[in-house]
Amino acid sequence: MTDAATRDDARKPAQVEAPLLRVSRLNKSYPTPQGPVAVLKGVDLTLARGESVALMGESGSGKSTLLHLVGGLDQADDGEIVIDGVDVTWLSDTGRAALRRETLAVVFQQFNLIPSLNLQANVAFQARLAGRFDPAWTDELIHRLKLQDLLERYPEQLSGGQQQRAAIGRALAVRPRLLLADEPTGNLDEATADDFMALALDVVAATGCAFLMVTHSERLAARLQRQVRLSAGQVRLSAGVINQP
Ligand SMILES: Nc1ncnc2c1ncn2[C@@H]1O[C@H](COP(=O)(O)OP(=O)(O)O)[C@@H](O)[C@H]1O
Ligand SMILES: [Mg+2]
Repeated sequence: MTDAATRDDARKPAQVEAPLLRVSRLNKSYPTPQGPVAVLKGVDLTLARGESVALMGESGSGKSTLLHLVGGLDQADDGEIVIDGVDVTWLSDTGRAALRRETLAVVFQQFNLIPSLNLQANVAFQARLAGRFDPAWTDELIHRLKLQDLLERYPEQLSGGQQQRAAIGRALAVRPRLLLADEPTGNLDEATADDFMALALDVVAATGCAFLMVTHSERLAARLQRQVRLSAGQVRLSAGVINQP
């Protein structure tokens, strides 16, 4: 529990704040020619409001699978995903699209900016699509992410670090309650990754959203509030203890 949460609880003893994300007993397998292969085997994971958590684990341990399930990009076999009090486990395609539009945002390793739009239009794109474009907030994000001198440039005219800063700006422009990032620094060199993390943590804090980030880097993971590890299909604390929801 964070200090802030402890103080909050002391002030309002009757209220226990519900977590922003609660993943319970989540199972996911993929079909293969040799039969289904279980990747997630009863994953439990909880994020408090505004909490930032690093998700680590060997390549192939199921980190992207877990992020895709939480992000509404794929469906679990079994278990439960509750975001901000709403059970999103069995949403229809339309419901999952609304979830991605209204509640959460995802940043991928590959930046995924739209090549035909300049940086300014890229940052505003998702918020406009969701009908939640807020010029003042977008402008604040652009300045916090140090993008103000690059607004007219197209993605091909930007470095990897600049593109990833634009991608997180685009994600946060909709003011999501949960930000998911799948190895956002995977294509960046170490110094650029460090700069990106500092700016990313600043804008995440400004938004107050919860942040779940997959990374291979112990160094970057240590900058988040908590670190968990996927191993043998379950989420464990980094020390190897099973993480209770
Ligand atoms: N669409 C899919 N079909 C079949 N197998 C998959 C699919 N996606 C992932 N896998 C397998 O599931 C396992 C976990 O993958 P992934 O979640 O991408 O791991 P990580 O992100 O931790 O590297 C891997 O063995 C991978 O080959
Ligand atoms: Mg992955």
